[in-house]
Amino acid sequence: HVPSVQALAASIANPADVPPRFVRPEAKADPVASDGESELPVIDFSRLLHHRFSREESAKLHQACADWGFFQLINHGVPDQAIENMKADIVEFFKLPLEEKKAFAQLPNSLEGYGQAFVVSDDQELDWANMLYLITRPLQSRNIDLWPAQPLTFRDSLSCYSMELKGVAGSLLEVMAKNLGVAPEEFSTIFQDQPQGVRINYYPPCPRADEVLGLSPHTDGSGLTLLLQVNDVEGLHIRKGGKWFPVKPLAGALIANIGDIIEILSNGVYKSIEHRAIINTKEERLSIAAFHGPREDSVIGPLAEIVKGYKPKYVSMSYKEFMKAYFSTKLEGRRLMESLKL
Ligand code: SIN
Ligand code: FE2
Repeated sequence: HVPSVQALAASIANPADVPPRFVRPEAKADPVASDGESELPVIDFSRLLHHRFSREESAKLHQACADWGFFQLINHGVPDQAIENMKADIVEFFKLPLEEKKAFAQLPNSLEGYGQAFVVSDDQELDWANMLYLITRPLQSRNIDLWPAQPLTFRDSLSCYSMELKGVAGSLLEVMAKNLGVAPEEFSTIFQDQPQGVRINYYPPCPRADEVLGLSPHTDGSGLTLLLQVNDVEGLHIRKGGKWFPVKPLAGALIANIGDIIEILSNGVYKSIEHRAIINTKEERLSIAAFHGPREDSVIGPLAEIVKGYKPKYVSMSYKEFMKAYFSTKLEGRRLMESLKL
């Protein structure tokens, strides 16, 4: 049994009250880069799409995906209202009494609904967070019973946000296909109907902030993830060269990152980078991650046009098998990805 972290955090005052399962020595193990040491690339979406793809901005995107696997996306064109409505409804949902949130709780052996990330064994260490995970696309995959009915506008806000982000992700994937030298139809077949899941993360403050983790180090099992920080509290770290780099979101930007699926399809040209979320002692933090993945029946392996006579670097498998492997173990850095290398 895993307690609601939000309720637990609200009920404790002293460091000694933090249950041992949340205490993670590895949280402090690797150095954190200092300010200004290195900055995430910034991609201007409106420039990228201007005149059906600016060559300069496309080249910048390619470099960002190959060197960092992460970038900030500015001028993405998602209407402010769509973002503000989504943010307001998320904040309000997490303020509801626990019993009301539980009406949308995860069912046994499923991640969808209100609850927490992967718990695969009774002795697994736990993350200091709650989440609300919902499948948003394709439309017929929605389990609307798990979509909060409070606040009243939540479902509309999420539908609208989902549609806007789908558009942005679709355009980015199109430019990436072009940059990788892949026929656009090949990518659009794999990402057909644009499957999407949205995970809303709630990280309460903790009196032992530097010894817990909001989200364990992991890579995303998606193709492409678009992350929005909901309030002004930072906490995302990405791993580069043995160090953790704190991400400082630019006002209004989306943080984009390459997931495992695109690393595999691109035969490692694009990188799925390890990242984690940290906690602070004073303030809660909220974020919303939209995962864009391949269609359920696709086969995931290095694309022939990219491999071109060289050796594929990863095994090919059905996306179903990949997901089974992804969800059957706890989040643990790049362990799964390394095991898929040939
Ligand atoms: C995530 O990895 O999906 C969440 C990261 C964050 O909360 O910033
Ligand atoms: Fe992630």
